[in-house]
Amino acid sequence: MLNKVNTLIKEINNFTASTKEEVEQFRIKFLGSKGILKELFNEFKTVDNSLKKEIGQALNTLRKTAAEKVNELKEKLEEKTEQKAIYGDLTRPAEPIELGARHPISIVKNKIVEIFSRIGFNVSEGPEIEDDWHNFTALNLPEHHPARDMQDTFFIEKNPDILLRTHTSSVQVRYMENHKPPIRTVSPGRVFRNEDISARAHCIFHQVEGLYIDKDVSFADLKQTLLYFTKEMFGKSKIRLRPSYFPFTEPSAEVDIYWGLETEVDYKITKGTGWLEIMGCGMVDPNVLKNAGIDPNEYSGFAFGMGIERIAMLLYQIPDIRMFYENDTRFLEQFKSVL
Ligand code: PHE
Repeated sequence: MLNKVNTLIKEINNFTASTKEEVEQFRIKFLGSKGILKELFNEFKTVDNSLKKEIGQALNTLRKTAAEKVNELKEKLEEKTEQKAIYGDLTRPAEPIELGARHPISIVKNKIVEIFSRIGFNVSEGPEIEDDWHNFTALNLPEHHPARDMQDTFFIEKNPDILLRTHTSSVQVRYMENHKPPIRTVSPGRVFRNEDISARAHCIFHQVEGLYIDKDVSFADLKQTLLYFTKEMFGKSKIRLRPSYFPFTEPSAEVDIYWGLETEVDYKITKGTGWLEIMGCGMVDPNVLKNAGIDPNEYSGFAFGMGIERIAMLLYQIPDIRMFYENDTRFLEQFKSVL
């Protein structure tokens, strides 16, 4: 009997299991109510008294080994399922990658740039931190000029003035300083104005400004270019130019497009007129050309500038300009399908 018990202990020590069912079968086989141990203990009753001590000890070892084995295997298997929970099912197909959306400001900027690039405009960029010359003086806005108040400025340093550009016209000055006509360039970028933040205005916004300089550029060229742009951008082909004032252009105009009065929203955004102002423009003032080293007797040109936010708000019917900067994914995700 002693031999039998020792062989069983060996068997138990060698046993391994890979599933909970196998462990349970093992438990029943050894420790169950009709199991091997039960049988052996029954047999033990008939053992000769002189052998009882030795065999009794061996039987206890057998029972302990079996019980320990069961616990050990159970623990091991539980650990395994825990690991599975951490890493998931490694054979499962991968999750589709979450694609982000382009920001509506980028979508509209790209569209504007693309429309002008089709008629030969390139893209120019410049610094957001500007000096007084490029943001004001070169643009025919000398010191103390009252029109400087039109653009509430964030100053970084005073005397000499360093500031956050209030428009990307500064890029056009830099471009003229470094390139000879003919010039056809659009300058997209971020601009800054010290304004109260509301649903319609923000202290940071984006512009695209355009500049065309060559021999014999006329106001008719400007109007035709803007008409082309509004057709491509909005699908609307009626525009009007209202006389206006900018220090860097003469004559200057504000561009309205006829949006229509078909829906309630049309009424709201056009204030019942059907017309919508979308940008400023004009013929580049001869002083500006001179300041940038271009001879105004030989060359003329036009310039225009528009706010990207305003156009994006019109196109996507966005009611509040602040939504562009809050990065709320519920807002941003709506632009997934637009490229
Ligand atoms: N720079 C002007 C602005 O920021 C826009 C503009 C550009 C007007 C070019 C006329 C010509 O308001």
